[in-house]
Amino acid sequence: MSLLIQNGTIVTASDQYDADILCVEEKIVAIGHDLDADAEVIDASGKFVFPGFIDPHTHIYLPFMGTFAKDTYETATKAALIGGTTCLIDFCIPDPGEMPSSALATWNEKSRNNAACDYTYHMAVTDFNEEISGELRTIVEEEGVASFKVFLAYKGALDLGDEKLYHLMKLARELGVIVTAHCENADLVLELQKQLVAEGKTGPEWHYHSRPPRVEAEGTGHILTFAEILGTHVYIVHLSCEEALAEAMRAKARGVNVWVETLIQYLTLDRTYAELPDFEGAKYVMSPPLRDKSNQDVLWNGLKQRFVSTLATDHAPFDFLDQKQRLGEDQFPMIPNGIPSLEDRVNLLWTHGVAEGRIDMHTFVDCASTQAAKIFGLFPKKGSIQIGSDADLVVYDPEFSGKISAATQSINVDYSAFEGWEIKGRPHIVMVRGEVAACDGEFVGTVGRGRFLKRMPTHSQP
Ligand code: URP
Ligand code: ZN
Ligand code: ZN
Repeated sequence: MSLLIQNGTIVTASDQYDADILCVEEKIVAIGHDLDADAEVIDASGKFVFPGFIDPHTHIYLPFMGTFAKDTYETATKAALIGGTTCLIDFCIPDPGEMPSSALATWNEKSRNNAACDYTYHMAVTDFNEEISGELRTIVEEEGVASFKVFLAYKGALDLGDEKLYHLMKLARELGVIVTAHCENADLVLELQKQLVAEGKTGPEWHYHSRPPRVEAEGTGHILTFAEILGTHVYIVHLSCEEALAEAMRAKARGVNVWVETLIQYLTLDRTYAELPDFEGAKYVMSPPLRDKSNQDVLWNGLKQRFVSTLATDHAPFDFLDQKQRLGEDQFPMIPNGIPSLEDRVNLLWTHGVAEGRIDMHTFVDCASTQAAKIFGLFPKKGSIQIGSDADLVVYDPEFSGKISAATQSINVDYSAFEGWEIKGRPHIVMVRGEVAACDGEFVGTVGRGRFLKRMPTHSQP
C-alpha cells in the first residue's frame, strides 16, 4: 500500500516547506518535489501537513471514584483520529492492593484488538515494596512501559506517600525512567474537602476551594525536591496555574530535569464554568480545578516560550447525568473528576492558539506532538516528518469552520464542555502508519490496527 501526498505545505516543530511525501507500507520513504509513484494520491493543495498528533495523557479504561470512564479503546481512538491524534499514552493504574503486572494485563486486555490508533501506557505506582519494585523493573525492561506515574493526590485511593515516593524515584533514576506526577497535596485536599462539606458548601463550585493554587504549587515543589535530591527526571502532568509553573521554573533553574504539561481545558476554560447553576458546574469538575482566567495568559506564554513542553487532554470521560450528577449531587468530593476533550484538543489549540496568534505553527506541532514523542521515547518514529518515520500524518484544512457539539462527537459521553464553540480548521485526512484512518470528521480506519508501542528508557544519566 503506497500513498502520495502532493502539493501540501509540510510543517514540523522546526521547519516549513512545500514538498510531496511518499509513504510505502507503514513508513515515510521519500520527501521531495514532483514525486511520482504507483500510489494512491492525496491532494493537499492549500493545506498543511503535520506529523500525527500525540496525546500523552488520557484515561480510556479508568475505574475511578466508584465508577468507570465511559470510553472504550474503540470509541476513544476513533474520536482521537477524527481530531488528528494518531498516538496516545494512557495510564495503567493498579487498584488498591493489586500488583502492577495484574493491572498491565487488564489494560492489555482492554486495548488489544480494540484500538484504531497506536498507543502506550504510563505505569502508575500506587504502592511500593520489594515485590512491586521487581515487577516494575520487568515492566520497564521487558514490557517496554518506560514511564511511571505517581499521584500526590487522591488520599487513601491513589496517593503514594513520601517514603514510598522516595524509593520509587530512586528506582526510576536507576532504570532511566521518567516519573510523571499529579501534584496536589493529598492531605490538604482531604482536610479542605471535609471542612467545606461540614460548612454545607457541597456544590461543584466548592471543588476549586478544596484545591487552591497553593495546594498544587506545594505538590509541584514537593516532588521536585525529591527529583533534585535523587536526580530523577520528572514530568508534571496537568499543570494549571501560575504558582505551580513558578515552582517548576525555579526547580529548572536549579538544574532539576523537569518537563511541564498543561491541558487544553486550562487554556480555554476558567473556574466560572464550574460555578454554573443547576449543577451544570459538575461538567467542569476536574483536578486540579479550572482556574481564574488570568492563568490562561501565563499558560499560553509558557507554551510560546516553551517553558510548558506539552499540551494534553487528561481525557477522563464521565457522563453528566448518570455519573457526575448521580454520584456527586450530595457533595462535590464525590463528583467523578474529568473534562473529556480528546477529540477537540488539536482543533481548539489551532483555533485559540494559532488562528488567534498566540502561538506559531511550530509551537503548535511541538507541544501537541513532537515533545511528547521526545520525552517519552517515541521520537523520531512518532512526532516527526522524516524518512524512516512512521507515516502518521495529518493533512490539515485551515479554512474549515464548524462547531463542537455533543450531538456530533464520537467520544462516548452525554455532554461536551465546549458545546456550541466555534472551531476554525480541522483535519482533512489523518493517517496512521500509511493507512487513512479519518477523513473530514469521519472515521474510515480499522479498529484493531492500533499497535502497542514498546518504549526504551530514555532518561538515563551518567
Ligand atoms: O480530573 C482529573 N484530572 N481526572 C482524571 C484523573 C487524574 O487526576 O488525572
Ligand atoms: Zn491527575
Ligand atoms: Zn490524568
